[in-house]
Amino acid sequence: MIRRTCAAGVLLLAISISPGRAQDPDAGHRLAEKWCVNCHVVASGQNRATSTGAPSFRDIAAQKSMTPMALRVFLQTPHDRMPDLHLSHAEIDDLSAYILGLRDLGKS
Ligand code: HEC
Repeated sequence: MIRRTCAAGVLLLAISISPGRAQDPDAGHRLAEKWCVNCHVVASGQNRATSTGAPSFRDIAAQKSMTPMALRVFLQTPHDRMPDLHLSHAEIDDLSAYILGLRDLGKS
């Protein structure tokens, strides 16, 4: 009972304090090339197609509903078709900075 409330509190706290840290999109890019590249097209220059049906990072970034908060929540919770990668809050911040940075690139 107490533990469950506590876990939810910790998650909320983590979500609300993590924007305080400076995000590093370059570090996010490196993480993506290491951990996400097998299933997602993570950069426009990527020449290896994936066969998993996972959306490309640029397509993810192009979704209007994809806010830093939505990304963070997605990456912190397990999903049916995507493995739980056990990312740290800092890693999630960097990855979401990288992914959402692709949105700006698309505009220019
Ligand atoms: C084993 C394959 C696999 C790996 C590795 C993987 N993903 Fe995914 N990911 C998927 C699939 C498949 C989906 C689509 C899920 C669905 O439609 O239910 C997805 C969906 C997503 C979405 C949500 C897209 C949306 O429109 O809601 C995000 C964000 C995402 N992945 C980020 C990442 C990041 C960041 C990494 C690396 C840290 C990563 N993924 C690693 C397979 C993977």
